[in-house]
Amino acid sequence: MRHLMSPLDFSVEELEELMNLAEDIRNNPGKYAHACEGKILATCFYEPSTRTRLSFESAMLRLGGQILGFASADSSSAAKGESVSDTIRVISGYADICAMRHPKEGAPMVAAARSGIPVINAGDGGHQHPTQTLTDLLTIHSLKGHLDNLTIGLCGDLKFGRTVHSLIKALVRYPNVKFIFISPQELTLPGYIRDDVLQKNNISFTEVRHLEEVMPELDLLYMTRVQRERFFNEEDYVRLKDFYILDKAKMKLAREDMLVLHPLPRVNEISVEVDDDPRAVYFKQAKYGVYIRMALIVTLLAMKEKEESSC
Ligand code: NCD
Repeated sequence: MRHLMSPLDFSVEELEELMNLAEDIRNNPGKYAHACEGKILATCFYEPSTRTRLSFESAMLRLGGQILGFASADSSSAAKGESVSDTIRVISGYADICAMRHPKEGAPMVAAARSGIPVINAGDGGHQHPTQTLTDLLTIHSLKGHLDNLTIGLCGDLKFGRTVHSLIKALVRYPNVKFIFISPQELTLPGYIRDDVLQKNNISFTEVRHLEEVMPELDLLYMTRVQRERFFNEEDYVRLKDFYILDKAKMKLAREDMLVLHPLPRVNEISVEVDDDPRAVYFKQAKYGVYIRMALIVTLLAMKEKEESSC
């Protein structure tokens, strides 16, 4: 059974197909309005979410399917001490596919091992967020026209930001992608991404403290929020939360065709005055998240059916 735990679970070719399907869905929504009739998506969210959960639900509803689920750990049996393994075994009898978010790294993988239905990792702690990455890839592919030959600046909380970890893993598979990491010393990339992903693949990267100095070089700027919920101490969060604020003055330093992405939610790291700049595409990006999740649900359910019919 195919699950989605990491963006690497799909080959570059499979990702290309998924993005083509998402584009077709975007251009011809009526064609897919009944694609998942009779199917149910479970959204099991043990951690807060707006975009990810609602875009999954919107995706399934737009495909003609139905949804059920919970939006917080305390509204599920986790509050009574039930394990994710037990929960997913039960959910497997109630739904055809499940999107799971959990504060513990690896929890969706534990669930997948016990599941009778495809499980999609909708974010596990500070680890991975593969469907945000699919959203980011579709946005870049659609607005830039390619995923190779790009200089990408990733700015903010690179230590705890799972969207950043997943995006780097996915992008190193495309030729001539260069990274510039912009973060305070305390929030630099985890060692395993630097060693196992970047150095292992001979990827060119630099690490800097100041956004201004690198703005003119960037094809893409991926801004992130400081991940308050992963900090051990509030004082550190308060000290670091406004380290970077992208404003009009900094945007003046950037190229005419540089795009600004952000997985959202934004706190203070992008000033609202940037929102009207045509290069600011984060709200468009959130919309692309529905199309790629529609494509993902259709694809995983088709793979499951194919497997069942060959048994
Ligand atoms: C991200 C997440 O949950 O990791 N949000 C999202 O899914 N769009 C980013 C964040 O919370 O900062």
